[in-house]
Amino acid sequence: MEVAEGEEAVRRVQSLTQSGLSQVPPQYIQPPQTRPVLPSHPPQTQHIPIIDLSGFDPTRIQSTRVSIARACRDWGAFHVINHGVPTSLLHHIRHAGLSFFNDLSMPDKLRYCCSPGAAASEGYGSRMLVNHDDADQVLDWRDYFDHHTFPLSRRNPNKWPEFPSGYRETVAKYGDEMKNLAQKLMALISESLGLRPSCIEDAAGELYQNITISYYPPCPQPELTLGLQSHSDMGFITLLIQDQVGGLQALKNCCGDSESWVTVEPLEDAILVILGDQTEIITNGKYKSCVHRAITNPDRARLSVATFHDPAKTVRISPASELIDESSPAKYRGIVYGDYVKSWYTKGPEGKRNIDALLLES
Ligand code: OGA
Ligand code: NI
Repeated sequence: MEVAEGEEAVRRVQSLTQSGLSQVPPQYIQPPQTRPVLPSHPPQTQHIPIIDLSGFDPTRIQSTRVSIARACRDWGAFHVINHGVPTSLLHHIRHAGLSFFNDLSMPDKLRYCCSPGAAASEGYGSRMLVNHDDADQVLDWRDYFDHHTFPLSRRNPNKWPEFPSGYRETVAKYGDEMKNLAQKLMALISESLGLRPSCIEDAAGELYQNITISYYPPCPQPELTLGLQSHSDMGFITLLIQDQVGGLQALKNCCGDSESWVTVEPLEDAILVILGDQTEIITNGKYKSCVHRAITNPDRARLSVATFHDPAKTVRISPASELIDESSPAKYRGIVYGDYVKSWYTKGPEGKRNIDALLLES
């Protein structure tokens, strides 16, 4: 049975916590193998790389490309600083998002709730996956608001909150700035592999952009839950900002086959770049999408703003021909992006299982 998001069966995580419960309901309890090991002291020794874009200064661009190549190869994620996006805009969108979740009553929030059962539908939600039948599905400890911002034909600010004042203008402006930065980064990423700068963007057909503001309420049992389960993002690149609470973790491949979760420490005014599965396909696996998740904490609600840049649904994505030859054969079969998205929403995102299905025998 499909259940409308606004109905009783879909609980807002925020209302669960406001009811003052001391134990998480069973649907939110992760099986032992996916439960987080909470960050310990002493502090971790590995850190996500930080890349200084300094206004994309032409005299430094070559060394920037080299740093990007290394970060993409080793992590599939990196912070950018001096990225050119006004820091006031980063503050405004975090403030607008937080105010929506904290200052609106539940009935006012539910006026914006996303459509029942539709994948990636716009609005206020708590369950990203459409597979509501799956009794084993563990729920994320998160509420969110998803906005469709590009192409402009999808942008309808009337579907976004009216409160706090300036919310709609802030989201529209933020979308414009993130698109601009994403285009520059996709060009640098392409060039860092010797591809023409427009290689990734041309493959997109028309660039699609969604902005998801996530709100992770405090959780009484963080050792049993995840704010967002382990996944890689579906599209090309995600640009993410977070507040100072922390909770995002990236999976790092250490030498050989050992893997460990590294906390992405909040870095004031930086923007985190996360490579998605379509970048892994186009680069024929030279760059890997980054597997990440969000953990919870018992004390403070956490807010993040993720801006996704994806291809058009009708476009077929395959490894760039320039990267394929006899010594380096294609590793992935091509796929129509809309089919990829469908598989993600029905099978679920756990780890990398969707992109693994495209691997060719070697
Ligand atoms: C996402 C995501 C992480 C976070 O929305 O895909 O990975 O910290 N978000 O909210
Ligand atoms: Ni993600």
